Amino acid sequence: MEADIEQILFTREQIAERVKELAAQVMGVYREKDLTVVVALNGAFVFAADLVRNLVEHVEIVFVRARSYGDGMSPQHEVTVEICDDVEWDGRHVLLVEDIVDTGNTMQRLMAELLARGAASVRACAFLDRPTRREVEVDVAFVGFRLEGPEFVVGYGLDLAGHYRNLPYVGTLRRELRGG
Ligand code: IMP
Ligand code: MG
Repeated sequence: MEADIEQILFTREQIAERVKELAAQVMGVYREKDLTVVVALNGAFVFAADLVRNLVEHVEIVFVRARSYGDGMSPQHEVTVEICDDVEWDGRHVLLVEDIVDTGNTMQRLMAELLARGAASVRACAFLDRPTRREVEVDVAFVGFRLEGPEFVVGYGLDLAGHYRNLPYVGTLRRELRGG
């Protein structure tokens, strides 16, 4: 698996440090408020697991599934949302955790869905942000790392056709594996 990686962009250590900083930022914003952390499956599971263990306040954790990609690397713009837990959303302050905001379609759709169900506030927290590919405007309150280029990345929850999620760092794939 490691042999498939062309370049490591963010190491395990850099990620751990950044996630701690993000958690501190999050706690600063939600002081005195009960927080519901909504984890967008599957990609955000690694990031969310590290993030919530750095939040030293009470939080509730809810899982949702948003499907926007097939098995390949090109986006499919229809996003379907499935909420995996039975939740009363009224009045909740939600931190919506995603692996990456790319075109923005998934995050926009998820935020709209949770607000429509009655959440009092929804803020987006993305491990990665790639603003150069944005198609819809979305306010990402918390960002781990910004990607400047268009390269597809894997690791730390991010996959290609279900693979590489368990890499402890983020990297680009070797050219011959990237497909088209
Ligand atoms: P968006 O709706 O275009 O913002 O895409 C969001 C989803 O696309 C993310 O949750 C990822 O699952 C997937 N995605 C976008 N870029 C990448 C990437 O570079 N690597 C892996 N998955 C990606
Ligand atoms: Mg994905």
